[in-house]
Formats: sequence, structure tokens, C-alpha cells
Amino acid sequence: MCSLSDQGPRLGIEALDNDHRRVAFEFDYILGQLESDRYDVDKAYWIDRAVHAFRQHCDFEEIVMEQSAYPALGQHRREHMDLCGMADVLRYYVQNISADDLASRINSFLEAKTQHYRTSDQSLVDFLRGRYVIDSD
Ligand SMILES: [Fe+2]
Ligand SMILES: [Fe+2]
Repeated sequence: MCSLSDQGPRLGIEALDNDHRRVAFEFDYILGQLESDRYDVDKAYWIDRAVHAFRQHCDFEEIVMEQSAYPALGQHRREHMDLCGMADVLRYYVQNISADDLASRINSFLEAKTQHYRTSDQSLVDFLRGRYVIDSD
């Protein structure tokens, strides 16, 4: 049985929260297709698209960290690399496992991603909010 993902916490910086929602939307679309069993035709395309969206998000965050001289950039970047590796592996499974198994693997990735949002991304936001005046409302 498939289920839609937790979109993760709102961290309080609109640009990051919007980007997190964009990534969540891509993966939720796939999970919805798996749930409805309409997924066979384009599943490789949709997985590639979601993984690409996540990689774009990581690149965006890393630019923010570089430009703000974020001191934990190295550790944060390593976590991004691990998560991108998890996401890339989904591409290899896409043709070879059942819809339920693929959904389970996607959900494992999403859990790891949400944990990263709650910890490392939150630390980045706390740093940025302390360093810059950010109007998030
Ligand atoms: Fe993030
Ligand atoms: Fe991050």
C-alpha cells in the first residue's frame, strides 16, 4: 500500500520552504500514481524528474551556504551527497521491482530527507535568521 509523503516541516524561510514543497510535490505525484496503478508508462521519467528536483534543491541550498559563509557547509554537503545517492538508487529500481516495493523505497528516502530538513536544514535556517534580517511573512 502506498501513501503520500510528509512534506516536512516549515522552517521559516520562504525560499527554502517553497523549494521543499516543490520537491515534495514531485515525489507525492509519483506516490499518487503508484497508489492509483497508472504509473507504468512514464515511471522512469517521473522518477528522473523528482530526483532532478531534489538535486536542484541541494545545489540551491549549497549556494546559499557558500554565499553566507555557513560554517557547517561541509557536513551539510556530505548529507546532501548521501541523500542524492539514495535518490539515484531509486532510478535503478524503477524497472525492476513492484509498485509497492518502489513506494516503500521512495518513502524510506523521504523519511531520511525529512529528518535532514528537521535537523541540518533547521540549523541552516537558524544561522541565516541570526545573521540576516529575513522577512518570511
Ligand atoms: Fe533542504
Ligand atoms: Fe539541506
